Amino acid sequence: MNTKEATNRILQLRSLIDRHNHLYFVENDPEIGDGQFDRLMLELRSLESSFPDLITHQSPTQRVGAAPLAGFSEISHTLPMLSLSNAFSDTDLSAWYQRLYSMLDDTDFEMACELKYDGLAVSLLYEQGLFTRGATRGNGVTGEDVTLNLKTIKTIPLRLHGEFPDLLEVRGEVYFPKSEFIKFNAQREQEGLQTYANPRNTAAGSLRQLDSNVTAERPLDMFVYSLAQIEDNMSFNTQLETLDYLKSLGFKVNPNNSLAKTVSKVVEYHRMWIQNLSSLDYDCDGIVVKVNRLDYQQHLGNIGREPRWAIAYKFPAIQAQTRLMDIRLNVGRTGSINPYALLDPVEVGGVIVKQATLHNSDYIYSKDLRIGDWVVIERAGEVIPQIVRSDKEKRTGNETPFTMPVSCPSCNEELVNRTDEAAIYCTNSTCPAQLERLVEHFVSKGAMDIEGMGGKVGISLIQSGLIADVADIYFLQKEKLEEIDRMGEKSTNNLLKAINESKKQPTARILTSLGIPHVGSEISYLLMNKFTSIDELIASDQETLLNIPSIGPKISESIAEYFSKPNNNRMIEKLRLAGLNMVSESIIDSENSNLLADLRFVVTGRLDNYSRTEIQDLIKKHGGKVTSSISNGTDYLLAGQDGGSKLDTASSLGIQIITETEFESLIDNRES
Ligand code: IVH
Repeated sequence: MNTKEATNRILQLRSLIDRHNHLYFVENDPEIGDGQFDRLMLELRSLESSFPDLITHQSPTQRVGAAPLAGFSEISHTLPMLSLSNAFSDTDLSAWYQRLYSMLDDTDFEMACELKYDGLAVSLLYEQGLFTRGATRGNGVTGEDVTLNLKTIKTIPLRLHGEFPDLLEVRGEVYFPKSEFIKFNAQREQEGLQTYANPRNTAAGSLRQLDSNVTAERPLDMFVYSLAQIEDNMSFNTQLETLDYLKSLGFKVNPNNSLAKTVSKVVEYHRMWIQNLSSLDYDCDGIVVKVNRLDYQQHLGNIGREPRWAIAYKFPAIQAQTRLMDIRLNVGRTGSINPYALLDPVEVGGVIVKQATLHNSDYIYSKDLRIGDWVVIERAGEVIPQIVRSDKEKRTGNETPFTMPVSCPSCNEELVNRTDEAAIYCTNSTCPAQLERLVEHFVSKGAMDIEGMGGKVGISLIQSGLIADVADIYFLQKEKLEEIDRMGEKSTNNLLKAINESKKQPTARILTSLGIPHVGSEISYLLMNKFTSIDELIASDQETLLNIPSIGPKISESIAEYFSKPNNNRMIEKLRLAGLNMVSESIIDSENSNLLADLRFVVTGRLDNYSRTEIQDLIKKHGGKVTSSISNGTDYLLAGQDGGSKLDTASSLGIQIITETEFESLIDNRES
């Protein structure tokens, strides 16, 4: 193919991909399947890698893959990003309306009602139809250049649709969908990482990552709610008309916007959304009411940094008052001591709340929470209830201040403070409470996957002294098991079978199961691709670990700390004795060839003829290496269907992307 032909096909592919991307992410109405979409992307990537001069910043392949930044540069907003004044009651709203009424000649001006998304405001600039710059609000006058991160958001068009103006700047709210937030936190919890408090902070944190590859892993989304500037003599009459136009350019505009002719219609909209908030997959903290006609907006102008023509009518926070009955402690799997509040049960927004998280002792002390206090609790969205404050005026003098114990509530071991962390820890590896959490994790689906051992069974086994560490699971005897509550012959047999089956789990799974803080399944796979056995990992020094891409000091120190404990090493020995795979699969295979010697592969997406493990084994069998993340040292990305962001990373690093068939012919060619 010559350059001209390539240019034509590339342009054609980009517009097809942009269109299908929009149909999928913005319209929720895809016309083609994932496989077809991936093939278009794959073709574009391979053309771009053959003709790298044709790559542009706005190509759909460029949504991710940029090198991490040292810092964000500052951007001065051409027009300041304003804030809104607030109304907290119908009276506030009417007062606002009356003020405008007296300033406008019109006696019944219309208002656009929109939801007030609880995320973070950003500004997007398009020049000649191309997304060229995106910034956070910052202080309203200057913000941070987060262009690369914004490009990873699939609902932000990189090129405008249809006829576009020479210059366009729009504003909107970036948010973390609620359903995704729950999944994200669950995943973090599984990996022993600290969970996030709410979707808004997580959205902000995700957008302010210096490495856009990290942002790309976060499923951020964006609603566009206003036009800041446009060149081309385009003019619109109203806010809602403007939003329709922005929608036609490819932006995601909220479908719940509505026109209100009277204050009582605005109040109706406000009430309706208070009732229906839980049906939305994004947090909203109110509605925004805007004078619909743009000439009226112009006429009304701003007071300071707030426009007169708009107001935020906040939703009442779902709060309630109750008594703080007690502060209890939970011991986490990694030994972290997590305080929580036991509350006098109270209804908050239709849900009975009995407990609230207290995070750590600093949180309790900074709010001066005392047992017996009256406290205000708040439930925001789907998130766990929080204590906002205690009511000091209601104190009788009988309240008891909380002191964090110095020893573990479960095993009495002295608790320790770790530098840089607010949490305190029990470091006794035989602590029963930790063991309960660890067993739960060890047998879970993503770890050793032992069905029938979660929950109560695990706890009973610990309490009856049958297991003192996770390795004891492999030495359980039938007669003893049958003595446990609810364990009949059938369930005992099934459990023993599941335990036995789990011995075949690959080494990476074993590493995941140990529950080493910060070492979840992905890191475990990465490590077991680097090391030939668990023993080699144990013997490795910090430097070797830190040389592995994706492994930073937090992970390497955590690994070193774990294996420095004699108890943990004894437990590993027991697991070995039980017959678990302590040696990486590639070494076990004896029919090695050297056809792929020293070639490094990353596999992504669904393959037609192999499972993930099969293809990895095949590569290793031929002397190749498989890693889980792409680096400069990667030779090939073997991509199946739904390859995801790895494809972008590979193409930006110029790494060859091959299909399953191409992989097979690679082996065949080398064999011949
Ligand atoms: S219009 C001229 N519309 O609320 C005012 N803002 O305090 C510009 N927000 O940080 C904002 N939803 O990010 C507007 N539908 C909406 C909004 C909205 C959320 C945020 C905005 C800003 C804050 C204003």
